[in-house]
Formats: sequence, C-alpha cells, structure tokens
Amino acid sequence: MRILLGITGGIAAYKAANLIRAFTEQGHTVQALPTQNALRFIGKATLEALSGTAIDNDMYQDVHEVRHVELGANADLIVVAPATANFLAKLANGIADDLLMNAILASTSAIYVCPAMHTEMWQNPATQANVATLRARGISVMKPASGRLTGSDTGPGRLPETADIVNFVMGQKPLSGMTVTVTAGGTREPIDQVRFIGNSSSGRMGIEIATAYRDQGALVLLIACNIEIPMPLGVEVIRASTVAELDQAMDNPCDIMVMAAAVSDFRIDKPFKGKLPRGEARTIDLIPTSDLIANFAANHTDTFCIAFALVEDGADVEAVSLEKLSAKGVSAVAGNSIGSLGSESSEITLVTKLGTLKRSGTKIELGKWLVEAIYKIMSKV
Ligand SMILES: Cc1cc2nc3c(=O)[nH]c(=O)nc-3n(C[C@H](O)[C@H](O)[C@H](O)COP(=O)(O)O)c2cc1C
Repeated sequence: MRILLGITGGIAAYKAANLIRAFTEQGHTVQALPTQNALRFIGKATLEALSGTAIDNDMYQDVHEVRHVELGANADLIVVAPATANFLAKLANGIADDLLMNAILASTSAIYVCPAMHTEMWQNPATQANVATLRARGISVMKPASGRLTGSDTGPGRLPETADIVNFVMGQKPLSGMTVTVTAGGTREPIDQVRFIGNSSSGRMGIEIATAYRDQGALVLLIACNIEIPMPLGVEVIRASTVAELDQAMDNPCDIMVMAAAVSDFRIDKPFKGKLPRGEARTIDLIPTSDLIANFAANHTDTFCIAFALVEDGADVEAVSLEKLSAKGVSAVAGNSIGSLGSESSEITLVTKLGTLKRSGTKIELGKWLVEAIYKIMSKV
C-alpha cells in the first residue's frame, strides 16, 4: 500500500522514524511529507533514508508536476503522526498553506490522524471542537496516549506507541484477520535432472492478488512456483516447484484460496536419472496430475475457492469458466486467455453462482478489483 505520512512540528516528530520502519517492514511504500516545523524536530536525511524516498516539502518546487495533486492521488491512505494542534485546526478549517495540507485536501483517500501535544492543548475546547469536526467528516482521529510529555509533566497528549498506531491504521481493514492462500507462478515437472515440462506463467497476477489481499488486512500465504520476480513484503512465502510440492504446500486451512498458479496437467511417470544424452529418440509417458483446486475445494468446504481458467485465444472464456465452476466444485472461476501469460495486463471474466463480471487492465488493477469483487460476492452468498 502507498502511505503518505504527514509529519507535523511536535516534539514527537522523531517517533515518525519508527513508524516509517514499521510500515515499510509490512511491505508498504511510505512517502514522508514533513511540515517545515517538523524538520526542526527530525532531520530530512533520517526520513529519506528510512523511507527510501526523496522528500521535498516545497509547494512551489517542480510546479509543472502539480505535486500536491499527485501526492494526494498516489496515496492509498494518509497518516498524519504526530499531528499538532495547529494541524488539527488547519484541517478542520480546510486551510491549505503548505504542501501537506494541499495534498490532503486534494486526496480522496482515507485519513488517519494521530494527535500529540500537551494535555492542556489537547483538552482545550478549540482542539476538541476541531477533533469533533474531523471525526464528523469521516477522518479517523486516534486518542492520544497518557504518559510522560515533553518535560517532566504527564497526562493525556502523548503520541501512542508505534505498534498501536499501526494497529489503528491497519486494523480497520475490511479483511483484517482473514487467512488467504494464493498460489502463483507455474509448476515444473522434471523430465531428467536438468530438463522439465513447465509453462511461461510469470506469477505476476498471483503476486498482485496476494498484495491486494495484504493491503486489505488479510494474513496472506503466497505459494510461489518458480517465480523470478521479487516477492511482496508482508506476506508469508513458501516456494514450490512440482505439482506434488504445490499440493503439499496447499495443505493449510484458510478462509480464501486463490489458485492463480498455472499447474501442469501432466507429469513424467519416471523422470530419467542424470541428463538424457543427445541423439537418441525417446518416448516420454505423461501421467495426468490430479486437479489440486478441485481436491482442495472438496476437502475444505468452508473455504471460498477461486480457480483460474486459462482459455485459448478466441474461445468463449465465460462458457469455459462456467463449465469449470461446476466441474471443480469451486466458489468462483477467473477466466483469462492465453495472451495474458507473461504480460503486464490482462482481462478477467469472473464467474460465480451470482453471475459474471468482466474487467480488463494492468495486473495491479486486476488484483485489486478481483479482491474487492470477491469480498462483495462473499458478503452476499
Ligand atoms: C519544543 C517544542 C515542542 C512542541 N511540541 C508540540 C507538540 O507536541 N504538539 C503540538 O501540537 N505543538 C507543539 N509545538 C508547537 C508547534 O511546533 C507549533 O504549533 C507549530 O506551528 C506547528 O507547526 P506545523 O503544524 O505546521 O508542523 C511545540 C513547539 C516547541 C517549540
């Protein structure tokens, strides 16, 4: 998930460093955006090094890029921590006098605000009225913790612990606590010790689905079959190569199973030991493999199982997917055509008992769409 982290000028601004680390360790991308006053409390170099992104909070730098709109539009969610009393007042009144305020006002993303200030400032009727205004507008404002403040004084107003902020932001996701297994990539069946029967699945579609489930708060197990592209952070990864290894890795109960891996329909009866020499004609006996997702669905009737159907270009994707829906006994079939193999974009025909949905786009877009569509379908069945 892309998080825009606003940091304002309170004593707790230095704690934003821990927050950046916590979010990035979960696999999120953080764009830190400190106010000018925040940079009196924490160095830009620290924020840039930990987030891995450059920071320029000058509203009038690179004006042709209209950065406040870009920053707002590129954020999946906005977190402001710590949030000063001044920030709360500005946001409650729609004041847009720096890059952070402009980016927030220009965004339609969910906003999470974590105030931190002296007890008297927090309890001041002006601050409390601003908090009430923000909450009434659907902005999530976290209650500050109680404890030691800037000096020797104590009371409510302290920035909550990093883990509590992460829970506050991430714990409100629609799929929090759900377990999801996603298989991705393509299996390989050995012919001899160096050759195999494989396929050209890159694993990208499965990776984007796993990423989208992670971003919705699910606990994701990604079973990666011979994937060369990087794995997403914040998901558990098990590597599997053959159909038998994949079958074994899938032996885990879960709420949702997405079978995006391209599984070999055949295996070699007895793979040759060593390397087959050149020159001699050979006959290979191909044995059909078992239908892993059909077996899984039969043995896990409480799991919402999604099979993928790879259909020849020009064939009727919906008809083939419908046929597989009943043949495999799964909850949904995502049909796509061979042309999408290894490509950045695709078209998915999603077939369930409730009807058919279609969507084309990049695999990132399709991953997000599929997760949302399945969520809606699951809440109806
Ligand atoms: C040492 C020091 C600590 C401060 N700590 C806080 C704080 O914790 N919370 C707060 O709301 N303001 C605090 N302030 C006041 C803010 O820095 C001030 O309101 C500033 O205008 C906030 O700017 P910003 O909201 O644009 O970042 C502090 C000021 C100083 C000098």
